[in-house]
Formats: sequence, structure tokens, C-alpha cells
Amino acid sequence: MMQHLLEITDLNKAKIEALLERAQHIFQAKQHYMPQLNSLSAATVVNCFFEPSTRTHISFRLAAQRLGAQVIDFDTSRSSIEKGESLLDTFLTLQAMHCQLFVIRHAQAGIPSWLAQHANDNVAVINAGDGSHAHPSQALLDCLTVLQRKPDFSALRVVIIGDYEHTRVIRSQIAALQLLGVKQVCLIAPKNCLPDDPVALGVETETDIDVGLHDADVVITMRIQAERLQAESQQDTDTYAKQYGLSLARLRLAKPDAIVLHPGPAQRDIEISSDVLEHPACLMQQQVENGIAMRMAIMETLYKGLNL
Ligand code: CP
Repeated sequence: MMQHLLEITDLNKAKIEALLERAQHIFQAKQHYMPQLNSLSAATVVNCFFEPSTRTHISFRLAAQRLGAQVIDFDTSRSSIEKGESLLDTFLTLQAMHCQLFVIRHAQAGIPSWLAQHANDNVAVINAGDGSHAHPSQALLDCLTVLQRKPDFSALRVVIIGDYEHTRVIRSQIAALQLLGVKQVCLIAPKNCLPDDPVALGVETETDIDVGLHDADVVITMRIQAERLQAESQQDTDTYAKQYGLSLARLRLAKPDAIVLHPGPAQRDIEISSDVLEHPACLMQQQVENGIAMRMAIMETLYKGLNL
């Protein structure tokens, strides 16, 4: 295992499968419900969220606690960053306090990797989402959710509806799904939100959602990343909802047993309708539950590999 989890491409198929297996074991044994394990009882985990988060932040916190760790929620607004201390000096300060696992979310791509370059060999950095770049733990928990319903990845056509350029989850999901050997990934979005070189990325693209949804086994839809868009490039939300919103009528264009994923937070009746959110095919709450199990597997695995 590597020292840090910065992006999916740091992993290979065997490492992803090992994380999936461990997370699935934790899930089946219900070890993600309450503190039953003590594999991190000597560890301190620091959550450093410089960008808003509900599920990733709380999920990492619960995952750490359910492994017996001490957890610090670093509050940037009450820290010495407010007095001009740099992010790097802040990280070095917390490292000197013998914290071992740093969970970092930041609006700027590359910040977790940059901090990891300054980490001691008894410290691991986990990327909890950096700008438009990557969100590896989300992609891994999404793969766990798919695995629980459709274990043969090689048979799956996965369609992802959303803005590739500005959505870190899409980038991490493509990498994870491809390493696991999915048959096909198709990105659906307006032309200006699709990758410049889909062939190099190994994906298909489609601008017409009604065409793209045909034969889909897995439908993943994304929120418009308004916080990362210039005002002039923001899609009009009514137009987006009409052209790319996932309704129950559209879901019927996919395979009859298709499953729906959304990493959250969802904007009801914009990218996904309420009737899809409430449909049994929609596994959004399952993703949230799986998030704790997967993050337990990630932290346990990284901690075991540290030079303590
Ligand atoms: N999926 C996800 O990253 O959600 P949060 O922003 O609430 O953490």
C-alpha cells in the first residue's frame, strides 16, 4: 500500500480490490455502525476541511472514531491561519503534535499532494476532495456501492451525467471504474462540459441524455459545480434541468434493473428529480452508509503501512 491516498491513479486494480474487500467485510459485519474495532486506537486523525462538506467530513470522523482513533476537527476560522500562519506551517505544527492521519479538503487542486510532499514517513495524507482534481474516497465508496448490486464490472455500461471539467468525482470515478475493468464509460453533458480528448481518456461521450441512457446498467448523476464556475459559464439551471435532469421517464431508457448513484449533495429537481431520489433504484443513502465502511478501510490500510 502507498503512504498517502491522493488520487485513484496512485492505486492499481489489486489495491482497489483489497480496499473493496475490506470495506465490504466491515459493512457485512456491521462494524461501521458503532466503535467495535481498535486498529487506530493509538492514532490521531486530523480533519482539515477548507471547503464546505457534510458527508465526507462526518463520514471520515465517524470512520476514525469507529476504529478507535482520537479525532481532531481542525477549525480554520479559529486557527492561527487567521493570524497569517501559512497552510504548510500549520501542517508542520500539527505533525509535530504527533498526529498521524490528515484528511484534507481544499478548493485548490493539488494542496493534499503538496502537503504530502512535506509529510514525515509516519504521517499519511488523505485527499478528501481538491478543487476540480480528485475525490478518491468518494470514487471508492461508489465502486463499493456498484459492487454490492452488480459485481461483474466487466459487463457494465456506466453513464455519468455531469460536467467533467469541473467535477472531481467524475475524474476519480472514471479512473476507478476503468481499473476495475468496466466494459464502457459514457459521459453525458453539454459539449462545453465534456473532455477535450475522450479517446485518450478511454470514454465515450454523448450530448443527448435520451440517447446516452440506452442500455445503461449504472447511471451516475452529478450536481452542477456552481462554486467552481465563472458567472458567465454557469448553466441556466432551468435549461440544465430540462436537458440533463434525470427524471423517472428518462431512467426508463436505461436497463430495467439499472441502479442510480449520486455522490451528494443533490439539488432536487435540477440534476435529479424527487421521484428518482425516492425510487428503489436510487442508492444515494446506500452510498452514504458505504462511505463510512470504505473510509474505515482506507484509514486502517494507510495506518498499517506507516513507519511508526
Ligand atoms: N460527496 C461529497 O463530497 O459530499 P460533501 O461535499 O457533503 O462532503
